[in-house]
Amino acid sequence: MLNTKEKIIDESRQGEALEGRRLPKSNGRKVFIESYGCQMNFSDSEIVASILQKDGYGITKLLHEADIVFVNTCSIREKAELTVRKRLTEYNKQKRKNPKMIIGVLGCMAERLKSKFLEEEKIVDLVVGPDAYRDLPNLVEEVDGGRKAVNVILSKEETYGDIAPVRLGGNGVTAFVSITRGCDNMCTFCVVPFTRGRERSRDPNSILQEVRELSLAGYKEVTLLGQNVDSYLWYGGGLKKEFDNLSEEEKKTSTNFAQLMGKVAQVDRKVRIRFSTSHPKDMGDELLHVMARHENICDYIHLPFQSGNSRVLEMMNRGYTREWYMNRIDAIKRILPTCSISADIIAGFCSETEEEHQETLSMMEYVRYNFAYMFKYSERPNTMAQRKYEDNIPGKTKQRRLAEIIELQRGHSLEILKKDIGKTYEVLIEGVSKKSDNELYGRNTHNSVVVFPRENYNVGEYVMVTVESCTSATLKGKAVK
Ligand code: SAH
Ligand code: SF4
Ligand code: F3S
Repeated sequence: MLNTKEKIIDESRQGEALEGRRLPKSNGRKVFIESYGCQMNFSDSEIVASILQKDGYGITKLLHEADIVFVNTCSIREKAELTVRKRLTEYNKQKRKNPKMIIGVLGCMAERLKSKFLEEEKIVDLVVGPDAYRDLPNLVEEVDGGRKAVNVILSKEETYGDIAPVRLGGNGVTAFVSITRGCDNMCTFCVVPFTRGRERSRDPNSILQEVRELSLAGYKEVTLLGQNVDSYLWYGGGLKKEFDNLSEEEKKTSTNFAQLMGKVAQVDRKVRIRFSTSHPKDMGDELLHVMARHENICDYIHLPFQSGNSRVLEMMNRGYTREWYMNRIDAIKRILPTCSISADIIAGFCSETEEEHQETLSMMEYVRYNFAYMFKYSERPNTMAQRKYEDNIPGKTKQRRLAEIIELQRGHSLEILKKDIGKTYEVLIEGVSKKSDNELYGRNTHNSVVVFPRENYNVGEYVMVTVESCTSATLKGKAVK
């Protein structure tokens, strides 16, 4: 997945400019941006910051000095929306102290609720969907003129390909680069196709350019983002097409995901490449072979399966069966024998029986994931599942099934990480450990977090670390020369 971390962005860096960017004259106004949801949203906030900075706005990490507050929102589960509503109450308190403050809602919840937001939440001045960010300066002007402003038009072409994001809240080491927008998959439980619109791929030249600029600016890791990166296909722009439907001319000049990965990996061998999210129905062997060929492509795949039962998968409209998913796992294990795998899992989807839940657990036994993002099914308004099926698994049962999934996963994570004790991994240092100033943390190729004594090492360096112990979530070790 795009990993759904319902957490607040830490805007510790105020958009350090990429090579060559010149900032326009300041208009004296400061914008505070807070992001929720998946990495795509965090990446979008960096595009928003860039658009506003070009228009003379400053970016601040301090709410109390903000003239404009934007919250980039997520609708994936009910809880995500509740979190945003709580934040809006907080902003409202701030607005009482500073009545001129503008409050805007961006992202998926803005798209889902549209102008209803303005009616429901009296404190919101501006509602802007994910494809309308170029319009932000005009919309703010509207609000300055005393009107409320809404733009939730979804686009067939917009990829923001030409916009160099202002890296917010980053560590200057790892960065996200969006390669597709939207999603055409229509999984029945999911709001994303409605909030993000149709799938489009971004021009590979602009992707390569962004990766080059990141490399020049000293970044050491790039994660390519899309709801389904495997279906990336550039043929000149516009809505997603299948390769077979391209004209002969388009076929010759097209770029698929495996080809894109091959090119991105060659930009700078010292820059690690990751990607998220892969979709089991589209992940082919070609990608796995490209991963095997390039050492700087990390040995890690996030491959959500949602449910281990074919009937439930069919109801979810995931486009694969249990057997197909297992076949993809077998291909990973054959072509990339040491590859670590993670997943997204949903417990208690409509009409899921106890036996079907057991098949989710047995799939976990089959694959042995390094880690997983595990959720209770949350019915979302206007999705296919909400219209067609009854959300009939009692809350308690959902909770118990989720607890069983989490328990099993904790055991697997611990068992897998234990096997790393004694091994030495290259770790890219991402920061100082939250627990101790004397320790640094980073990740190895498998996306496992590794903590080790600081000594004289610095953030942004690669260091070899021998693993000495672990918990179910973290490896601990010592750097070796
Ligand atoms: N495009 C990615 C997923 C993006 S959403 C993919 O297809 O893998 C991230 C995860 O949130 C999903 O994989 C799913 O596990 C979970 N999710 C999405 N909708 C949900 C819902 N209605 N209830 C519970 N979990 C949900
Ligand atoms: Fe949602 Fe499915 Fe698209 Fe993922 S692939 S974003 S789960 S519709
Ligand atoms: Fe991402 Fe949440 Fe939207 S997961 S795409 S921000 S609904």
